[in-house]
Amino acid sequence: MTDTMRAVVLDAPGSPEALTIRELPRPTPAHGWVLIQVKAFGLNRSELHTRLGIAEGVTFPRVLGIEATGVVAACPGGEFAIGQQVVAMMGGMGRTFDGGYAQYTCVPAAQVIAFSSALDWSTLGAVPEMLQTAHGSLTVGLDAQPRQSILIRGGTSSVGMATAVLGKQRGMTVLATTRNPDRASALTGIGVDHVLIDDGDVADKVRAILPDGVDTALELVGTPTLPDTLRSVRVHGVVCFTGMLSNQWTVRDFYPIDYLPRGVRLTAYHGDAGDLPPRVLQDFLDGVAAGSTVVPIARVYDFGQIVEAHAAMEAGISSGKLVVTT
Ligand SMILES: NC(=O)c1ccc[n+]([C@@H]2O[C@H](COP(=O)([O-])OP(=O)(O)OC[C@H]3O[C@@H](n4cnc5c(N)ncnc54)[C@H](OP(=O)(O)O)[C@@H]3O)[C@@H](O)[C@H]2O)c1
Repeated sequence: MTDTMRAVVLDAPGSPEALTIRELPRPTPAHGWVLIQVKAFGLNRSELHTRLGIAEGVTFPRVLGIEATGVVAACPGGEFAIGQQVVAMMGGMGRTFDGGYAQYTCVPAAQVIAFSSALDWSTLGAVPEMLQTAHGSLTVGLDAQPRQSILIRGGTSSVGMATAVLGKQRGMTVLATTRNPDRASALTGIGVDHVLIDDGDVADKVRAILPDGVDTALELVGTPTLPDTLRSVRVHGVVCFTGMLSNQWTVRDFYPIDYLPRGVRLTAYHGDAGDLPPRVLQDFLDGVAAGSTVVPIARVYDFGQIVEAHAAMEAGISSGKLVVTT
């Protein structure tokens, strides 16, 4: 193991070119922390928000990356064996301490989940944050039950597509939106039952299919679409606010009686590694290996293509997860 590593550093918010690849000292884990040799990492909107300067609580310079996938390189507390395959996510990664856009990353053991899989690293690297958010939204956020219906607003996002995959595994009826009719096949290809073209009015389209409204809805676009998403849901149904693809996430002058349809429940989800039980991760990966579960990956980039990859994320030109291999 060398003493240095290549990492993607952001000195201050800026364009994709503000992400520079540098040689940095390899971090040394303290007791209770784990050094991971990163094999692949997924890109996330959170890192885009950091690069654009609209994320809160981030300090610079910073190695970005709220998730990473790889093998344990050092673990002074003995929580994990050297060489164990692991994922890590959230908890300040890439925000308050250096994250996964590097050949090595050092994270608290509580944020690390072990797994075992012969899948290639580019597939494995797509999974952790996307799966944690989809699983956490369905369980903590929505308490979704088998055979219920779900509307996914922002359906072609990686979190949206992962939620559709998990929803179908639960036997749910999945309705998912895209603003782009050309992307409908990407959604039907992963099992979405009804693709709705999002022109701002989705509630009427939902009620043409389910006159009483959907049982559950996952809001990933943000507060511009939230009132219409709320109108799509049946009495005693639930909307979970998990994402803000529009970069708008606040409601001004919130008057509940005016804003919320009668009897419709609004929750929110913001999670961490603790919301992804190791068994759920392992079962998902085993399903992928067996060919029964799809990982919605849009494109895999090399480490040296990080600027191109971030530009693609910002342009929103892909359906599914963008992954970088180290
Ligand atoms: N709460 C949490 O713990 C948590 C964790 C992870 C992610 N998130 C959030 O979940 C959301 C999804 O993240 P992701 O990484 O899966 O996204 P992504 O894959 O980068 O999603 C991109 C897609 O979003 C769609 N979209 C719909 N409305 C949009 C709009 N107004 N502006 C831009 N894009 C729009 C576009 O699809 P079409 O062109 O097909 O419409 C676009 O292709 C993000 O807001 C992210 O911050 C939350």
